[in-house]
Amino acid sequence: MPFRIKHGLRWSSPDIKAVIPAQSMRGAGECVPLGTPVDPLHRVPCPTPEDFMRHAVVLGSTGSGKSNTASYLARELSRYASVVIIDWYGEHVDEGDVIIDPAAGDPVPMPADKVSILELLEEVLDLSPPQSYVLMKVLRDGIGLEQLVKEVEYLTPEGRWENESRLALIRRLSPLAYSNIRSVTGDWANTALGNGLVSVLDLSRIHPLSSRRLVALSMLRYLETAASPRRKVFVIVEEAQNLVKANGLIARQVAEVRKKGLGIVLVTQSPSKLGEDILLNINVRIMHSLRSWADIEVMARSSALGSEAYRVLPKLRVGEALVEYHTLPHPLLVRFPRVLKLGEGGEHGLDDTRIREPVDAKEAFPLPGKHH
Ligand SMILES: Nc1ncnc2c1ncn2[C@@H]1O[C@H](COP(=O)(O)OP(=O)(O)O)[C@@H](O)[C@H]1O
Ligand SMILES: [Mg+2]
Repeated sequence: MPFRIKHGLRWSSPDIKAVIPAQSMRGAGECVPLGTPVDPLHRVPCPTPEDFMRHAVVLGSTGSGKSNTASYLARELSRYASVVIIDWYGEHVDEGDVIIDPAAGDPVPMPADKVSILELLEEVLDLSPPQSYVLMKVLRDGIGLEQLVKEVEYLTPEGRWENESRLALIRRLSPLAYSNIRSVTGDWANTALGNGLVSVLDLSRIHPLSSRRLVALSMLRYLETAASPRRKVFVIVEEAQNLVKANGLIARQVAEVRKKGLGIVLVTQSPSKLGEDILLNINVRIMHSLRSWADIEVMARSSALGSEAYRVLPKLRVGEALVEYHTLPHPLLVRFPRVLKLGEGGEHGLDDTRIREPVDAKEAFPLPGKHH
């Protein structure tokens, strides 16, 4: 059942912190403190690890402090379970206990059965039904990508449409097959998933981008099978908008995976690309500053902020966020500590001066259609 809270939240003062009441907070026991409330009179919002098993999202425009918050959460969550960061830009490699660098030859887990391979490639390559059909003809359990391309090349097409699909499929598959990725099937890495460790899957040097997506989605698939109620795993997915698709793997996992012991934390600059269906299935929401109309609008509809989102979200400073989860009756304004030291590989040039200025929300809206 999708999760939704809606109630008449009132912001009676221009000073945001004064109007966000903090109620029924948890004690300091088994919970993950979400920064420090901006109002010192409020207690620290502290969702439990189980709350995070019902998934979380960290959202905000570029430079609003998402990756820093993600890094903070990785450390906190690793007190309860294994943590894997799927790191699109390689920003977290300094923070990891285990670094998985596929571009340097570290193996990545691939599904072995042909149905899973098919689903994965359909999603990564956006295959048309005729292309999927051709792929299905040559797929067999345990086949590697290089072999797969060869077999599509050798396939004798049954007609002209099939030949066209076959050629299109080769064009899409070849870059994947001949990229520098080494994949293994079967049980991949118990060591990398040690309890209390933070593993970082560094995608930043993988090319082409379709390979990056393949590696990321294979890892998510693998974690789904590796996690269990007794062996819990949290996975933090940076730049999740690059990986999410309507009815795709992440949409399905967010909707159904919580019983299996896999908690997903999606980090994104673009909640509108995640879509309302996914957002409504997510329990913990950490909302940094947003500036695009489409993104603010989707949060107005899918969070307890309602129309106040338009006024408040553009005004947050770097590292500040509104947080909400189902046992917290009202969104609460917090500030996260700075933990991430950005290396040169990071997503830099972050423009925090614009966020720091108080913005008139009406003027802050970009023109409709102009979102990133
Ligand atoms: N909680 C924070 N407190 C102070 N500065 C922060 C905080 N979070 C981020 N920053 C600063 O803002 C910059 C951008 O942060 P980052 O987490 O990379 O943003 P995003 O991932 O949203 O693009 C960082 O380089 C850092 O200097
Ligand atoms: Mg970032």
